[in-house]
Formats: sequence, structure tokens, C-alpha cells
Amino acid sequence: MAERMELAKDYTISRVINGCWQLSEGHSLKSKIDKKDVMKAFHMLAEQGFTTFDCADIYTGTEELLGDFQTELKSGSTLSPQDIQIHTKYVPDINLLDKVDYSYTEKIIDRSLKRQKREVLDLVQFHWWDYNIPGYLETAYDLLKLKEKGKIRNIGLTNFDTKHLSEMVDAGIPIVSCQNQYSVFDRRVEKELLAYCKSNGIHLLCYGTLSGGLLAETWIGKTQIDPDNRSQVKYIQVMEETLGWEGYQELLVLLERMASKYSVSLAHIATKYIISQEGVAASIIGVRNSKHVEANSNIFSFELDQSDIDEITQFLSNFTILEGEPFELERTEGSKFRNIMKMNLNEN
Ligand SMILES: NC(=O)c1ccc[n+]([C@@H]2O[C@H](COP(=O)([O-])OP(=O)(O)OC[C@H]3O[C@@H](n4cnc5c(N)ncnc54)[C@H](OP(=O)(O)O)[C@@H]3O)[C@@H](O)[C@H]2O)c1
Repeated sequence: MAERMELAKDYTISRVINGCWQLSEGHSLKSKIDKKDVMKAFHMLAEQGFTTFDCADIYTGTEELLGDFQTELKSGSTLSPQDIQIHTKYVPDINLLDKVDYSYTEKIIDRSLKRQKREVLDLVQFHWWDYNIPGYLETAYDLLKLKEKGKIRNIGLTNFDTKHLSEMVDAGIPIVSCQNQYSVFDRRVEKELLAYCKSNGIHLLCYGTLSGGLLAETWIGKTQIDPDNRSQVKYIQVMEETLGWEGYQELLVLLERMASKYSVSLAHIATKYIISQEGVAASIIGVRNSKHVEANSNIFSFELDQSDIDEITQFLSNFTILEGEPFELERTEGSKFRNIMKMNLNEN
């Protein structure tokens, strides 16, 4: 069964969260999503204790999919909608940031409630594309008002850096979690954010742990990757800037050696390494189908020895960490990390 942790008072989550970006329209560059198989995967995951799901207002179709999943849970399952946790996001379009006000925010939150068929949103993770456009603090207060009104249970952030996260905390916004990219490819959170989260009781929820599937046996010995989806496009960029192709291949071999030792897969070692870091509450693993569900149920069947954790850390210390704070390159005008992102998806 999946390990659990208390994210907030009386609110627990599974330490591996089922990510739903992979199910949104526009994520895939080639293959199509089979909804029936996805529902099968959701049931299998929830029954194995992987009860927490991560979606977003801008991941087209995913909040509705989770709403449909709950309808299925109501009829003929041992689990009920109350047994699952749905983490969504509030990501106002960059073109609208200067117009965001209470009524706009409430409209988006009400839309998420309707799509998810929920009375209250378990966790709303707030994202703000551009700190130079004022309004993020006011919007966070509006989310707090909606929490007080009973529409939101917990407030989190996503892709915030340490400075702006601390601004929120100092302003009295009760932030329970911060969702950021953290993997053996991208260790920017280790510079400052992770320590800040630890000392302020904020839980880090990590995405990118498997780098869109690049952390898998299948890439050992290959000389290039033809990306299948938008995650892979992004993580190839990250890998090229940090490990480089040679370092990536060496890392795969190292992780595979450890995987054989524990009789698990390379992806499990990559995940376990991240969730073993102090301050990390959970890792989010993208689900596209039922293919990996059975294997991934083994993630909690073993513990990484400290010597193996140390060996991976030692290996990574030979390579450069991405420049800046978490999500800083993604916010920088002209950067290739920013150029691949879509920032106006909410009003579609
Ligand atoms: N806040 C944000 O800005 C943000 C950004 C990105 C993602 N996220 C969240 O994080 C989630 C994860 O997204 P991600 O882009 O970081 O992807 P990821 O979780 O690093 O990669 C997911 C892919 O890994 C592969 N995989 C899964 N289990 C595996 C296993 N046991 N062995 C080998 N491969 C395995 C699958 O690829 P195949 O299907 O190809 O086999 C799957 O589609 C998203 O769904 C979303 O919820 C949030």
C-alpha cells in the first residue's frame, strides 16, 4: 500500500500522487489517450492506496475526468469519493493577470467545483506567471476568503520561489504546500526553497521525478530521444543543461545497478531518491494509462540504503545545477525554458 502523510490538520495524502497533466488535451505530441484504460488505472491506483490526484484548471478535461471517476466510485466500488483527494491549481492567464479580482477568482474556483463534482476543493495550488505584475498577494487573500467561505479546504502554491513564498507566509496566508520541479535532473529547490519549506512547516510536492519517462531503462545506450510529448521536450532541455548526454547515460547505468539490487525498476530508484529527501512530502508521477500502475505499486515495498542515497548525491554533485531559483528560467523573457510554455490556457 502507498505510504501516507499528513499534509494539513486532518488531511492526509498518498506520498506518490497521480499526475493528470499527461491526460490533458495538448500534452501528447503523438499517442492518443484511451479514457477507458485511464479509468481502469485510476481504480487500480486508488485501490492500492494511491488515492491522491493532481490536476489543474488549465489541464483541459482533467478535472471533469476526475469528476467522472467519482461517479464510478459511487457505483459498485469499495471506495467512495471521500476516499480520494483531488489537488487542483489556480493558474490565471498571463494576459489577464492585471484584471484578476475576487469575482474572477471565485468564478474559476466555482468552475473547478462543478467540473470535479465536489462540495469543497481539497487543495488549490496557486500559480502566478509574472511577479512584476502586481496582484498575487491580493489574489492569495481572495483564495483565503474562499477558504473561509468553505469552497477550499487547503491553499498551496506552485512554481513559487523562496522570496515570493516567504512573502505569502509573512502576509499570513496559510500555505500548506508548494509544488515545484525536483528530480535528479533539476535540483534548484536544494539551493534555498527546500530548507525554507522545512523550517516553515510547508510541504514540498515534487513533479518531474521521472522527467517525463526519461528516467527509465529503455534509454540506456541510446544516442538520442525523439520526444513523444511536451513533458519530454521540457526535460530533454533540462537534462542537456545539467548532466549532458554522457552524464545522463552514466546516471541511468548507476540507477539501473541499484534497481537490480532491490529488484525494482530504475524509475523507482529515481522516485525513492526524491521522496527520501527531508522536507519532501510527495512526488507526483504522471499517469497516461494503466501500463505502469502495477510496477509502481512497488515503490513503497523497499527503502533505499543511506549509502545508495549518498552515492547518487555524490554522483550528481559532479554536475551543474540549473541556474537561479525554482522556475526562474521559466519566467525569464527569451529563455528556451519559457518559450515552450503555454501561458494563456484558462479562458479556452
Ligand atoms: N505545477 C506544474 O507546473 C507542473 C508541471 C509539470 C507537471 N506537473 C504535475 O506533475 C505530473 C507529472 O508530470 P511530469 O511532466 O513531471 O512527468 P513524470 O511524472 O516525470 O513522467 C511521467 C511519465 O513517466 C513514465 N513512467 C511512469 N511510471 C514509470 C515507470 N515505472 N517506469 C518507466 N516510466 C514510467 C510514463 O511515461 P510513458 O507513459 O511514456 O511510459 C509517464 O507518462 C503531471 O501530471 C502534473 O500533475 C505540474
